[in-house]
This record gives sequence, C-alpha cells and structure tokens, in this order.
Amino acid sequence: MQTKLLNLKNQALALINEAENKQELERLRIQFLGRKGQINQILKDLPQLDKQEKAKLGRLTNDLKVAIQSAIKTKSQSLKTTPKKTWFDMTAPGKSPPLGHLHPISQAIEEVTRIFEHIGFTRVRYPEVDWDWYVFESLNMPVDHPARDEWETIFIDTPAHKTMGKMVLTTHTSNGQVREMERVKQPPIRMLNIGKCYRRQQDRTHTVMFHQFEGLVIDKNIGIPHLKGTLDYFAREFYGPQAKSRIRPFNFRFTEPSFEVDFSCTHCSGKGCKFCKSGWHEVGGAGLVHPNVLKAGKIDPSKYSGFAFGWGIERTYTLKPGLNIDDIRLLYSSNLNFLNQF
Ligand code: FA5
Repeated sequence: MQTKLLNLKNQALALINEAENKQELERLRIQFLGRKGQINQILKDLPQLDKQEKAKLGRLTNDLKVAIQSAIKTKSQSLKTTPKKTWFDMTAPGKSPPLGHLHPISQAIEEVTRIFEHIGFTRVRYPEVDWDWYVFESLNMPVDHPARDEWETIFIDTPAHKTMGKMVLTTHTSNGQVREMERVKQPPIRMLNIGKCYRRQQDRTHTVMFHQFEGLVIDKNIGIPHLKGTLDYFAREFYGPQAKSRIRPFNFRFTEPSFEVDFSCTHCSGKGCKFCKSGWHEVGGAGLVHPNVLKAGKIDPSKYSGFAFGWGIERTYTLKPGLNIDDIRLLYSSNLNFLNQF
C-alpha cells in the first residue's frame, strides 16, 4: 500500500508539472483530489485495515494530498506568469520596425549646406553660448548701445570676462563672423555658419530657440552685385527656378549698407496673394561687412571688403512651395501626426 501511494505521488507530481493550461490542471485536480478521485478511493479502503496500519496510511495519504494541493497551487501561479508556448513559423516574413526620418529642420539644414557648398562655401559651427564680444561688441555694438535691445538676449549668470564681457546664449549666427576671420586669418573667406540661436520671443513666427544660417564672404573688391547674385542663386536652388530675391534698405550695426532680404512668394510668384499680401516674404538681413567688424577680426578694410547675410532656417523653410506652415512652433511640438508629413 505504501509503494502504491509513493507511485501515485510521483505520477501526480509529474503530470501536474507538465500541465500546459488551467483546464488540464483542473482535470488533474479532479482526477487526484476530487470526490471520486484516486486519493478518496485509497481512503475508502482504510476502514478494513488494523488500527496501527490505518493510522500510518492515514498520515501518508494526508501528506500525499497536501503535496498534490501545493503542486497544483504552484503550477497554477506559474501558468499565470509564463507566456503560452506558441507555434513559431521560421519561414514567415519578418515585420520591419517603423523607420523614422530626419526632422524637417535637419532636412532644411542639409539642403542649405549642399546649396552653398556647391559654390565654394565652407560649413562651420561656432559656440551656442558665447562671449558678448563675439555676439555684440566686435560687431560694432558697444556695451550699452541701444541697438542691442532688439536682440532680446538671454544672459548666462556667470562672472564677466575681463575683455570678452558676459556670456550669452547666441542671439544670431553673426557671432561666427569675427571668429571665422580669426580662424582663417587671411582672406578669401567663404563661410556658412549654421547654428542654434536663442531670444526671449514666442509667437506664430518666433520661437525661443531657432536656427539661422549665416554667410560671410571676404575678398578683394567684393560688393553688392556679389551679394545679390548669391541671394538669387539661393532663391532658385531652394525655392525653384522662378524664385527671385529682393533687398531693401535697413539698418544693422555690423553691415554698411544694410538690407532686409525678401524672397518672392512661391504661391503667387510675386503677384500678391492672401498668404504673402505683397508678393514677397522677408527672411533675414544682409549687407556689406562694416569696416569696424573687419578691424575687430584683424582684416585691413582698405584692402578687403565683404558681404554677410543671416536668415532664419525655420522661416526660410516654411516658405517652400506647398508647405503652408503658418505657425513655426508646430515644428518643435514633437507632434508625430504633423512631423510624419515631411
Ligand atoms: C539678424 O539676426 C542679423 N544677424 C542678420 C544679419 C546677418 C544681418 C549678417 C546682416 C548681416 P534679424 O534679427 O532680423 O537679423 O534675424 C534674421 C532672421 O532670423 C529673421 O528674419 C527671422 O527669419 C529669423 N529669426 C529671428 N528671430 C527669430 C525667432 N525668435 N524665431 C524664429 N526665427 C527668428
């Protein structure tokens, strides 16, 4: 009888261990522990045994019952946490993970870089956190000059440098002008500086962080026709063969003369529509490099002259044909429904 109980225990524990689902486990519970189950069958025979034998077998049968109950409980818990064995088809075609793409502003930066590299500009990057000297003072904007107010500057709370002044988040990529003159030392210079800029501004056409691209060309006898030719070349390459540029007199402390630069509207080809109103869109500034800026970069203004321009990447990009983005903040909203369109 003792051997019979031991065999029954081994058989029950092995079957419980191999059960693959809850139904099978329940069937085993009924088979061993149910009213008409195998253990109760054994207990039925107990009255026929003598007192000593009855007590011994009673204890063994009870232990067997407890062992089977605990095995069923453990197995039931592991079935809850272990994933079901599923059939795996090695020959099924794989599921490719969703592929992202570059952010539209990164795409625009790549395109602007390609267009200017094609005519011999060298792409550079200068600090986003820079000294007042490079952002303002070397650009003919002395400390306390009212022209600085337009730049809505964010200052870094650190001690000022003896000669370079305070540290600021760059408000424009023009901080690269004197840095590039220092790097190249001797013209010719054909710089394309693309970087992040920061200003305390936020509305449909302004974000606190935005990008600018800055061109700087310095050589002998550089004048306005070179600037205008470069602007028209960029307009055609970026907006299409019909696109044109226009310059209007303006005032920047670091260029003389200075201009605002407009590109013809790509919706109405400059005729005037509800999108542009006048037929033109303003994208940034430009001008001939001021002699004081050349001097700050240790370049002799009696020998060399140059032009510079600086435009917002976001603004330039959103004017592309067919884009119709009237709020540039959307570009930084991390909204995939919006970004997946590009
Ligand atoms: C400048 O920043 C001059 N440094 C440009 C320049 C360079 C003039 C070289 C002459 C020679 P302005 O502040 O106008 O100029 O900015 C130029 C362009 O940057 C704007 O037309 C706009 O397209 C973009 N921009 C300026 N502020 C923001 C902003 N907060 N958000 C998005 N784009 C901006």
